[in-house]
Amino acid sequence: MRSRGFMFCGNWKMNNLLTESLNLVRGVMLEIDPSVFDFCEVVFAPSFPYLLAVKEIIEGTPFKLSAQNCYWEEKGAFTGEVSPLMLRDVGCSYCIVGHSERRNIFGEIDRWINKKVKALLSVGITPILCVGEKLEERREGKLFDVIYRQVTMGLDGVDLGSYRVVIAYEPVWAIGTGINAAPEDAEEVHSYIRGIVAEKYGMDVAGGMTILYGGSVNPFNIGDLMKMENIDGTLIGGSSLKVRDFVDIIYGGLEGKGVWR
Ligand code: PGA
Repeated sequence: MRSRGFMFCGNWKMNNLLTESLNLVRGVMLEIDPSVFDFCEVVFAPSFPYLLAVKEIIEGTPFKLSAQNCYWEEKGAFTGEVSPLMLRDVGCSYCIVGHSERRNIFGEIDRWINKKVKALLSVGITPILCVGEKLEERREGKLFDVIYRQVTMGLDGVDLGSYRVVIAYEPVWAIGTGINAAPEDAEEVHSYIRGIVAEKYGMDVAGGMTILYGGSVNPFNIGDLMKMENIDGTLIGGSSLKVRDFVDIIYGGLEGKGVWR
Protein backbone atom coordinates (compact mmCIF):
# COMPACT_ATOMS: atom_id res chain seq x y z
CA MET A 1 0.00 0.00 0.00
CA ARG A 2 1.21 3.53 -0.78
CA SER A 3 2.13 5.54 2.28
CA ARG A 4 0.16 8.73 2.73
CA GLY A 5 1.51 11.98 4.04
CA PHE A 6 -0.08 14.13 6.71
CA MET A 7 -0.99 17.67 5.81
CA PHE A 8 -1.96 20.94 7.52
CA CYS A 9 -3.41 23.61 5.26
CA GLY A 10 -4.36 27.09 6.41
CA ASN A 11 -7.32 28.34 4.38
CA TRP A 12 -7.26 32.08 5.05
CA LYS A 13 -10.46 32.68 3.04
CA MET A 14 -11.02 36.42 2.35
CA ASN A 15 -8.83 37.58 5.25
CA ASN A 16 -5.44 39.28 5.71
CA LEU A 17 -4.05 42.28 3.86
CA LEU A 18 -0.46 42.24 2.58
CA THR A 19 1.33 43.07 5.84
CA GLU A 20 -0.80 40.64 7.84
CA SER A 21 -0.18 37.92 5.25
CA LEU A 22 3.58 38.37 5.36
CA ASN A 23 3.69 38.60 9.18
CA LEU A 24 1.63 35.45 9.52
CA VAL A 25 3.86 33.44 7.17
CA ARG A 26 7.08 34.75 8.72
CA GLY A 27 5.73 34.04 12.21
CA VAL A 28 4.87 30.45 11.35
CA MET A 29 8.23 29.91 9.66
CA LEU A 30 10.04 31.05 12.80
CA GLU A 31 8.02 28.77 15.07
CA ILE A 32 8.17 25.54 13.05
CA ASP A 33 10.89 23.03 13.79
CA PRO A 34 12.18 21.90 10.36
CA SER A 35 11.91 18.25 11.38
CA VAL A 36 8.07 18.46 11.24
CA PHE A 37 8.52 18.21 7.49
CA ASP A 38 9.69 14.63 7.96
CA PHE A 39 6.07 13.87 8.84
CA CYS A 40 3.81 16.35 7.10
CA GLU A 41 3.29 19.14 4.61
CA VAL A 42 2.41 22.64 5.75
CA VAL A 43 0.44 24.70 3.24
CA PHE A 44 -0.68 28.34 3.14
CA ALA A 45 -3.76 29.29 1.11
CA PRO A 46 -3.88 33.10 0.88
CA SER A 47 -6.18 35.16 -1.34
CA PHE A 48 -5.18 35.56 -5.01
CA PRO A 49 -3.51 39.00 -4.67
CA TYR A 50 -1.03 37.69 -2.08
CA LEU A 51 -0.01 34.37 -3.61
CA LEU A 52 3.10 35.78 -5.22
CA ALA A 53 4.24 37.65 -2.11
CA VAL A 54 3.85 34.52 0.01
CA LYS A 55 5.61 32.44 -2.62
CA GLU A 56 8.60 34.76 -2.49
CA ILE A 57 8.96 34.25 1.27
CA ILE A 58 8.57 30.47 1.26
CA GLU A 59 10.62 29.80 -1.87
CA GLY A 60 13.40 27.31 -1.13
CA THR A 61 11.67 26.08 2.06
CA PRO A 62 9.41 23.01 2.43
CA PHE A 63 6.30 25.20 2.96
CA LYS A 64 3.78 24.94 0.12
CA LEU A 65 1.37 27.34 -1.51
CA SER A 66 -2.30 26.77 -2.35
CA ALA A 67 -4.96 28.86 -4.05
CA GLN A 68 -8.54 28.84 -2.78
CA ASN A 69 -10.30 28.50 -6.13
CA CYS A 70 -9.74 28.59 -9.91
CA TYR A 71 -11.56 28.50 -13.24
CA TRP A 72 -11.21 25.52 -15.56
CA GLU A 73 -10.25 27.22 -18.82
CA GLU A 74 -6.61 27.85 -19.67
CA LYS A 75 -7.09 31.46 -20.83
CA GLY A 76 -9.49 33.75 -22.65
CA ALA A 77 -12.42 36.11 -22.17
CA PHE A 78 -13.43 35.12 -18.62
CA THR A 79 -13.31 38.43 -16.76
CA GLY A 80 -12.50 38.03 -13.11
CA GLU A 81 -11.38 34.41 -13.31
CA VAL A 82 -7.97 32.85 -12.65
CA SER A 83 -6.65 29.82 -14.56
CA PRO A 84 -4.74 26.82 -13.20
CA LEU A 85 -1.82 27.81 -15.44
CA MET A 86 -1.66 31.21 -13.73
CA LEU A 87 -1.68 29.51 -10.35
CA ARG A 88 1.17 27.26 -11.37
CA ASP A 89 3.04 30.30 -12.69
CA VAL A 90 2.90 31.97 -9.24
CA GLY A 91 4.07 28.84 -7.45
CA CYS A 92 0.94 27.01 -6.30
CA SER A 93 1.31 23.30 -5.61
CA TYR A 94 -2.30 22.98 -4.46
CA CYS A 95 -5.70 24.54 -5.09
CA ILE A 96 -8.81 24.15 -2.94
CA VAL A 97 -11.91 23.35 -5.01
CA GLY A 98 -15.55 22.88 -4.11
CA HIS A 99 -15.31 24.53 -0.73
CA SER A 100 -18.80 24.72 0.79
CA GLU A 101 -18.64 28.51 0.66
CA ARG A 102 -18.11 28.24 -3.11
CA ARG A 103 -20.93 25.70 -3.41
CA ASN A 104 -23.41 27.49 -1.15
CA ILE A 105 -22.69 31.21 -1.64
CA PHE A 106 -21.59 31.14 -5.28
CA GLY A 107 -23.73 28.26 -6.52
CA GLU A 108 -20.93 25.94 -7.67
CA ILE A 109 -22.13 22.52 -8.75
CA ASP A 110 -20.38 19.14 -8.84
CA ARG A 111 -19.96 19.24 -12.63
CA TRP A 112 -17.99 22.51 -12.48
CA ILE A 113 -15.93 21.29 -9.56
CA ASN A 114 -15.03 18.19 -11.56
CA LYS A 115 -13.86 20.40 -14.46
CA LYS A 116 -11.68 22.36 -12.04
CA VAL A 117 -10.16 19.17 -10.63
CA LYS A 118 -9.24 17.99 -14.14
CA ALA A 119 -7.93 21.40 -15.24
CA LEU A 120 -5.68 21.61 -12.19
CA LEU A 121 -4.31 18.10 -12.69
CA SER A 122 -3.54 18.88 -16.32
CA VAL A 123 -1.04 21.55 -15.22
CA GLY A 124 0.42 19.60 -12.31
CA ILE A 125 -1.45 21.24 -9.41
CA THR A 126 -2.95 18.95 -6.77
CA PRO A 127 -6.62 19.72 -6.09
CA ILE A 128 -7.90 19.72 -2.51
CA LEU A 129 -11.46 18.60 -3.21
CA CYS A 130 -13.86 19.65 -0.43
CA VAL A 131 -16.97 17.65 0.35
CA GLY A 132 -19.42 17.85 3.22
CA GLU A 133 -23.07 17.73 4.18
CA LYS A 134 -25.35 20.47 5.47
CA LEU A 135 -27.04 20.04 8.85
CA GLU A 136 -30.46 19.41 7.32
CA GLU A 137 -29.00 16.77 5.00
CA ARG A 138 -27.48 14.99 8.00
CA ARG A 139 -30.77 15.24 9.92
CA GLU A 140 -32.69 13.86 6.96
CA GLY A 141 -30.39 10.83 6.80
CA LYS A 142 -28.79 11.93 3.51
CA LEU A 143 -25.21 12.21 4.80
CA PHE A 144 -23.75 9.27 2.91
CA ASP A 145 -25.70 10.01 -0.30
CA VAL A 146 -24.37 13.58 -0.35
CA ILE A 147 -20.79 12.49 0.29
CA TYR A 148 -21.03 9.74 -2.33
CA ARG A 149 -22.33 12.18 -4.94
CA GLN A 150 -19.74 14.87 -4.19
CA VAL A 151 -16.81 12.42 -4.18
CA THR A 152 -17.79 10.43 -7.27
CA MET A 153 -18.84 13.45 -9.34
CA GLY A 154 -15.82 15.46 -8.22
CA LEU A 155 -13.51 12.63 -9.31
CA ASP A 156 -15.47 11.60 -12.42
CA GLY A 157 -13.06 10.64 -15.20
CA VAL A 158 -9.98 11.27 -13.05
CA ASP A 159 -7.28 8.59 -13.15
CA LEU A 160 -6.17 8.45 -9.53
CA GLY A 161 -3.65 5.78 -10.43
CA SER A 162 -1.64 8.48 -12.20
CA TYR A 163 -2.74 11.71 -10.48
CA ARG A 164 -2.94 12.78 -6.85
CA VAL A 165 -6.04 14.40 -5.37
CA VAL A 166 -6.47 15.33 -1.69
CA ILE A 167 -10.00 15.18 -0.28
CA ALA A 168 -11.15 17.41 2.59
CA TYR A 169 -14.23 16.36 4.53
CA GLU A 170 -15.80 19.52 5.90
CA PRO A 171 -19.29 19.19 7.37
CA VAL A 172 -20.96 22.51 6.57
CA TRP A 173 -22.43 22.81 10.08
CA ALA A 174 -18.93 22.63 11.59
CA ILE A 175 -17.35 25.38 9.47
CA GLY A 176 -16.74 28.58 11.41
CA THR A 177 -19.25 27.59 14.09
CA GLY A 178 -16.93 26.50 16.88
CA ILE A 179 -18.63 23.08 16.81
CA ASN A 180 -16.29 20.47 15.35
CA ALA A 181 -17.48 17.01 14.34
CA ALA A 182 -16.82 14.44 17.06
CA PRO A 183 -13.67 12.52 16.08
CA GLU A 184 -15.60 9.23 15.78
CA ASP A 185 -18.25 10.85 13.54
CA ALA A 186 -15.58 12.39 11.30
CA GLU A 187 -13.74 9.05 11.19
CA GLU A 188 -16.91 7.30 10.03
CA VAL A 189 -17.15 9.65 7.03
CA HIS A 190 -13.41 9.53 6.29
CA SER A 191 -13.47 5.76 6.24
CA TYR A 192 -16.57 5.88 4.01
CA ILE A 193 -14.74 8.21 1.58
CA ARG A 194 -11.72 5.91 1.53
CA GLY A 195 -14.10 3.04 0.81
CA ILE A 196 -15.60 4.87 -2.19
CA VAL A 197 -12.10 5.47 -3.55
CA ALA A 198 -11.10 1.83 -2.90
CA GLU A 199 -14.16 0.55 -4.74
CA LYS A 200 -13.37 2.62 -7.83
CA TYR A 201 -9.58 2.70 -7.84
CA GLY A 202 -8.42 -0.15 -5.60
CA MET A 203 -6.97 -0.44 -2.12
CA ASP A 204 -3.54 0.83 -3.09
CA VAL A 205 -4.82 4.19 -4.34
CA ALA A 206 -7.33 4.53 -1.48
CA GLY A 207 -4.74 3.72 1.17
CA GLY A 208 -2.40 6.34 -0.26
CA MET A 209 -4.96 9.13 -0.39
CA THR A 210 -4.63 12.02 2.04
CA ILE A 211 -8.05 12.83 3.54
CA LEU A 212 -8.26 16.01 5.60
CA TYR A 213 -10.86 17.01 8.16
CA GLY A 214 -12.01 20.64 8.32
CA GLY A 215 -14.49 22.53 10.48
CA SER A 216 -13.69 24.43 13.68
CA VAL A 217 -10.32 22.77 14.20
CA ASN A 218 -8.33 24.35 17.03
CA PRO A 219 -5.28 23.48 19.15
CA PHE A 220 -7.52 21.76 21.72
CA ASN A 221 -9.48 19.40 19.48
CA ILE A 222 -6.84 18.53 16.87
CA GLY A 223 -5.11 15.83 18.95
CA ASP A 224 -8.23 13.66 19.29
CA LEU A 225 -9.20 14.18 15.65
CA MET A 226 -5.77 13.11 14.43
CA LYS A 227 -5.87 9.97 16.60
CA MET A 228 -8.41 8.64 14.10
CA GLU A 229 -6.92 6.23 11.61
CA ASN A 230 -8.39 7.82 8.49
CA ILE A 231 -7.85 11.49 9.37
CA ASP A 232 -4.58 12.51 7.74
CA GLY A 233 -4.53 16.21 8.47
CA THR A 234 -6.69 19.26 8.42
CA LEU A 235 -7.95 22.24 6.46
CA ILE A 236 -8.02 25.08 8.95
CA GLY A 237 -9.97 28.33 8.58
CA GLY A 238 -10.21 30.70 11.56
CA SER A 239 -7.40 29.12 13.58
CA SER A 240 -4.96 29.41 10.68
CA LEU A 241 -5.02 33.21 10.94
CA LYS A 242 -3.06 33.22 14.22
CA VAL A 243 0.56 32.07 14.28
CA ARG A 244 0.28 30.42 17.72
CA ASP A 245 -2.90 28.51 16.93
CA PHE A 246 -1.75 27.31 13.50
CA VAL A 247 1.60 26.13 14.87
CA ASP A 248 -0.02 24.45 17.90
CA ILE A 249 -2.42 22.63 15.58
CA ILE A 250 0.51 21.24 13.60
CA TYR A 251 2.36 20.03 16.71
CA GLY A 252 -0.85 18.82 18.38
CA GLY A 253 -1.87 16.96 15.23
CA LEU A 254 1.47 15.20 14.91
CA GLU A 255 1.32 14.30 18.61
CA GLY A 256 -2.17 12.89 18.06
CA LYS A 257 -0.72 10.71 15.29
CA GLY A 258 2.01 9.61 17.68
CA VAL A 259 4.89 10.78 15.48
CA TRP A 260 5.92 13.83 17.52
CA ARG A 261 7.36 13.88 21.08
P1 PGA B 1 -12.97 26.89 10.12
O1 PGA B 1 -13.02 26.75 8.52
O2 PGA B 1 -11.71 26.23 10.60
O3 PGA B 1 -12.96 28.36 10.38
O4 PGA B 1 -14.19 26.22 10.66
C1 PGA B 1 -12.56 25.59 7.89
C2 PGA B 1 -12.73 25.70 6.40
O5 PGA B 1 -13.74 26.26 5.94
O6 PGA B 1 -11.86 25.25 5.63
